[in-house]
Amino acid sequence: MSSLVPVRFQPFDLDLMAEANGRVVVIIPSEGKLGPAARRANRLTKGAVARMVASERFEKVKNGDVITLAWPGGMQAEALDILVLPRRPEQAEARKAGAKLAKLAGAKSVLVMAGNQMQTDQLALGIVLRSYDFDAHKTKVTEPVKEITISHNKPEEVEATFEPLYAVADGVRMTRDLTNEPANILTTSEFANRLAEMQDLGLEVEVLEEDRLADLGMRTLLSVGQGSVSPSKVVVMQWKGGETDDAPLALVGKGVVFDTGGISLKPAGGMEDMTMDMGGAGVVAGAMRALAKRKAKANVVGLVGLVENMPSGNATRPGDVVKSMKGDTVEIINTDAEGRLVLCDVMWYAQDRFSPVGMIDLATLTGAIIIGLGHENAGVFSNNDVFCDAFLKAAKDEDEGAWRMPLGKAYDDLLKSRIADMKNVGGRSAGSITAAQFLQRFVKEETPWIHLDIAGVASVSTETSYAPKGATGWGVRALSRFVQDNFE
Ligand code: BES
Ligand code: MN
Ligand code: ZN
Repeated sequence: MSSLVPVRFQPFDLDLMAEANGRVVVIIPSEGKLGPAARRANRLTKGAVARMVASERFEKVKNGDVITLAWPGGMQAEALDILVLPRRPEQAEARKAGAKLAKLAGAKSVLVMAGNQMQTDQLALGIVLRSYDFDAHKTKVTEPVKEITISHNKPEEVEATFEPLYAVADGVRMTRDLTNEPANILTTSEFANRLAEMQDLGLEVEVLEEDRLADLGMRTLLSVGQGSVSPSKVVVMQWKGGETDDAPLALVGKGVVFDTGGISLKPAGGMEDMTMDMGGAGVVAGAMRALAKRKAKANVVGLVGLVENMPSGNATRPGDVVKSMKGDTVEIINTDAEGRLVLCDVMWYAQDRFSPVGMIDLATLTGAIIIGLGHENAGVFSNNDVFCDAFLKAAKDEDEGAWRMPLGKAYDDLLKSRIADMKNVGGRSAGSITAAQFLQRFVKEETPWIHLDIAGVASVSTETSYAPKGATGWGVRALSRFVQDNFE
């Protein structure tokens, strides 16, 4: 497991600059006016900063640009990063700039001479998010401990507003760790253990084992895991930060620790990517961690279905008919459309037990959503415009891409089965929508519901603004903000 890079806030002190190791950051607005830290850097470097600002290069600068003076004379640091940013930037602008600084720094420590810079908390968040590195299985890591120091006029004030952001960043870290972890390590049992550890944060965590799931009638979920030697589990995490009588918001996650496709086996090429098929459950876990760590004043329950989809003599066959907890029967045409079989039982259980004010499910559900939206946006499906718009706003404010997709009866009709109440696939066209229609059959009329298909955004092969290659933690920030804006 990784840990978050530590961040220290210190009173603004120009004398830190000459002796600091790693990298020193000074901030200059695009008009080129030098503040105290830039002036000190200029003095130490015998005028290099002023010459840079007077150069042609600076004429073309945009906010968020970083110009690096390497091995600056008069300073101990190996680089002086000049960040171009207005004194009052937008939140996202500051966050992105921080991420850029962290990427440049790699494993090196950073001293940010923030002075009276606004949105320094968001800048620090950007640094922390982009400083993530999944090196749990590298045996030869020798890098020194990286540290972030923020030198600011009002260190206590910034530290106070940064605290909840750091809590959310730790949720993002957890989601990334879980999503990056290979399936021989992150088995269903190991996953449940890591969630149970969050009891220390004040979450109530229950692990429902197979016999209990069988008693509850969760046959569709169990049918997915029955080919694996790893036992299927449902984990329930309750955060009770709100009024005792308030119904909770429910978050439901697909936790397929590995998806071979089952008897409808996937092709070999790229199958290793299916270690991330528990990404939805990973986001639910990270969001619950974030809420607990920032002591959110709301009631939220997170539920994850943990299974492994394997072929074996005991695995579900194409053509099998299975009864869900709700009571509806499903003809399993394709054992690779397993996520919906897991979610439908957990979603039904969530509504049955908690009567939530709203329910959001997250799943790496379909390859088709990647064809439609690529890696920029998650697919958003909902039965309630007000609920959905509130989530879309939160996602936008955190710049996590989210794009609404349609639902409708004609799509639902594609799930008709000759011998059961429904099939688990609707055919080639509109694959992400028919998957969402399948889920909607397990949503009660009165439950505001959002389905997030995160197959394209949970883990990516190129870096993003806030994350290196691999797991992104998409959704943790949006969900935390959604809870804050609508339930606290
Ligand atoms: N886990 C996959 C979806 C997926 C694909 C996630 C690529 C991440 C990247 C899901 O269980 C699946 O196999 N879906 C099938 C559904 C089909 C059989 C109807 C798919 O998308 O091909
Ligand atoms: Mn599958
Ligand atoms: Zn899957």
